[in-house]
Amino acid sequence: MRTPIKKIYDMKAQKEKIAVLTAYDFPMARILDEAGVDVILVGDSLGMVVLGYESTVPVTMRDMLHHTRAVARAVRKAVVVADMPFGSYDIPERALRNALRLIKEGGADAVKLEGGQTIEKQVAHLVHAGVPVMGHVGMTPQTATRLGGYRVQGRDSKQAAQILKDALLLERLGAFSVVLECVPGPLAQKITRKLKCPTIGIGAGIHADGQVLVLNDMLGLESSVRPRFVRQYAQFGKAARKAALVYIRDVKESKFPTVEESFH
Ligand code: KIV
Repeated sequence: MRTPIKKIYDMKAQKEKIAVLTAYDFPMARILDEAGVDVILVGDSLGMVVLGYESTVPVTMRDMLHHTRAVARAVRKAVVVADMPFGSYDIPERALRNALRLIKEGGADAVKLEGGQTIEKQVAHLVHAGVPVMGHVGMTPQTATRLGGYRVQGRDSKQAAQILKDALLLERLGAFSVVLECVPGPLAQKITRKLKCPTIGIGAGIHADGQVLVLNDMLGLESSVRPRFVRQYAQFGKAARKAALVYIRDVKESKFPTVEESFH
């Protein structure tokens, strides 16, 4: 049985850190679930790390449903959270219709939306309809251009106060957790202290109640720039490239397949 969302909420009071990773397909979701990750996020980072877009903006509901279904089919224990893509929650009615699709057709347990005050009505509408909501404040990739690009948010006091206000609002509206992306450690600590619901940090320092990383980043699948907050736990990119080189050589030199690898 999947973990009840209440258990994730309660982990904060029990001082148990929450481990969150993204996944976009069946095999990886199964591996993460069996490893015991608490929450699997079908992030719209999908657009950049899987679909090859420059940002998360082009990701559609169709993309999210397709990948959420694949993940949901694999997951037995973790909570599955699906990101709502840009443009899918611009008004409360659309937000609810699309959130219900991700849950009923996609198999997600909850949805994640970016923003605070700007999406107050949408979050209220979803929570009222019984949809579990994960918030996301700080650096919000869907509106990164408005924030001046992919950069740390909340360095000045006005911006920091707004991020805190947004996080408090999301909690008041009923979000069961809030992602803090790319904010200074002391701000994340302050927000984490003030909220009863757990904070999930990414580039938000050591004090958040949980951490999330993009799977492809932590597995070392990406070859380009690596932000400071990404720890690579493996070098899948290098291993895959090496395997492909050896395979090509074996085929060219007729070393693959062998007689033992053939049917007789
Ligand atoms: O889309 C995503 O992967 C995310 C995480 C970075 C939190 O939103």
